[in-house]
Amino acid sequence: MAQDIKNQILAGKIPEHIAMIMDGNGRWAQEKGMDRIFGHHQGVETVRRMVEACSELGVKYLTLYAFSTENWARPIHEVNALMELLVSTLRAEVEKLNKNNVRLHTIGRTHDLPGKCQDELDEAIAQTQANTGLNLVLALSYSSKWDIANAAKKLAEAVEAKEISPGDIDEEKFRTQLSTCNFPEVELLIRTSGENRISNFLLWELAYAELYFTKTHWPDFNEEGLHKAIHDFQNRERRFGKTSEQIKNDQ
Ligand code: FPP
Repeated sequence: MAQDIKNQILAGKIPEHIAMIMDGNGRWAQEKGMDRIFGHHQGVETVRRMVEACSELGVKYLTLYAFSTENWARPIHEVNALMELLVSTLRAEVEKLNKNNVRLHTIGRTHDLPGKCQDELDEAIAQTQANTGLNLVLALSYSSKWDIANAAKKLAEAVEAKEISPGDIDEEKFRTQLSTCNFPEVELLIRTSGENRISNFLLWELAYAELYFTKTHWPDFNEEGLHKAIHDFQNRERRFGKTSEQIKNDQ
């Protein structure tokens, strides 16, 4: 059955860019009577599984919401544990990323992260920059409203410096100022753990993404869950504002 669905999706269109909101680590741990941090550690295992599964399917971009700007408001010991986990995971995984031809990128206010996180990220990004397989994008200290406001600020500065005029600003120009400007549009967003919201993640980039919500907590999410989400994606009609008849004629 699991192999059936995998073969089926491999015969169809694999989304080029998948984004994931990795929710439910804390609840998963608490339901087991464990500390929330244990949930984050287990969450890293799911990250590993998703990177491997996406590479295997030929997904080109995987963007993971690892830490939002709002997450800074969590108890300090949880913030510190997440930062430590980021450092230890990068250190432990960079070799495997290279082996699997995965290239690492980040989006967000990474300059807000502790120095050792920034150093470890810079190192992992540099070490994987020649890889040509999956692009793994970690959203860290990320907020989509911040990214959009920042893009507006950069354009305003360019107008002030007379490099462009206000009339030059259109959707394409605006897009070039976002931190995701080098990545293609997101085609599929997966959020685990039963919340049906976007939580300030990739608001611009999700404009025409298919949204998939599952009740499974992130530490329990696996390849089979990913395959189901892609199967669901492949069975949707993506009309981009056109009519169903137009889409059928285009095919
Ligand atoms: C959401 O679960 C998860 C996070 C805020 C952090 C995600 C981090 C990881 C999976 C580990 C580190 C990642 C990398 C890439 C090394 P939650 O804590 O909001 O869960 P809850 O909603 O049940 O409280």
